[in-house]
Amino acid sequence: MVRSDWVPQTVDVSVPSIARAYDFMLGGAHNFAVDREIALKIDRMMPGLRAGARVNRAFLGRAVRFMVDQGVRQFLDIGSGIPTVSNVHEVAQGIDPECRVVYVDRDPIAVAHSELMLADNDRAAIVRADMRDVAGILDSPQARRLLDLDQPVGLLMMLMLHWIPDEWDPGALVAAYRDALPAGSYFAASHVSADHAGRSMHRAAEMIKDSGSRDQMTVRSHAEVLALFDGFELVEPGLVGCAEWRPGGPGDVSDVPLMNMLLYAGVGRVIR
Ligand SMILES: C[S@@+](CC[C@H](N)C(=O)[O-])C[C@H]1O[C@@H](n2cnc3c(N)ncnc32)[C@H](O)[C@@H]1O
Repeated sequence: MVRSDWVPQTVDVSVPSIARAYDFMLGGAHNFAVDREIALKIDRMMPGLRAGARVNRAFLGRAVRFMVDQGVRQFLDIGSGIPTVSNVHEVAQGIDPECRVVYVDRDPIAVAHSELMLADNDRAAIVRADMRDVAGILDSPQARRLLDLDQPVGLLMMLMLHWIPDEWDPGALVAAYRDALPAGSYFAASHVSADHAGRSMHRAAEMIKDSGSRDQMTVRSHAEVLALFDGFELVEPGLVGCAEWRPGGPGDVSDVPLMNMLLYAGVGRVIR
């Protein structure tokens, strides 16, 4: 296989990465045959998956705009992925150019492309890290330069926490971030669920496991995702299907009904 020059030497292009498969679903070009194969396999089982990815991105945009409206001017986006359209800094800085954003991802291609995109933006940067390294991320040069932890922060974990298995205790990880943030901060997350897709979602998780990807998906119920918001006060309408979280227009909703419900989405406020 010919390696493109945008592919870091350390990247194993024979196993899929969720960052690249998701890039494919959003119409991006930074993916390989293995990534497209797994995405298409799951899409054949649950047609409309690409619409689901777009519904998630639309929720991300609404959540960021909501937080900016609440006065938040700095963001920590964990599991930010390969840059696409309407990234967090574009949405937030589009409203107020003073907004600052720290992205975090463990995928080398997501990091390499984010670095390129942000080269001329002195108010946004990316940290390559596993989200479990809470102290390392918060103490990184990028976070120290861009985030003031005495001021409200918008913490985002979009389509992220289902990559954290129960044995890693995702609730404790979210709590560790929450405890580092001052009152008035917000947390937004979207998370896959099997509640509306029955066996298909579990089958998708098995397909990803069989693919050899290091990203392994844990499907959770509404109650389990809700528990990840412990210690936050959920803003209206609570934890709902992604397209049901304050939709503002037709672009926020899919005409494939399952894709509006496949992901749970919510925004919570840090209370003390
Ligand atoms: C499906 S993408 C979501 C991208 C973006 N947040 C969005 O919603 O459009 C999930 C991202 O989480 C990243 N990820 C998964 N597990 C991670 C971990 N333990 N630490 C950091 N990033 C992780 C993956 O590399 C991938 O880029």
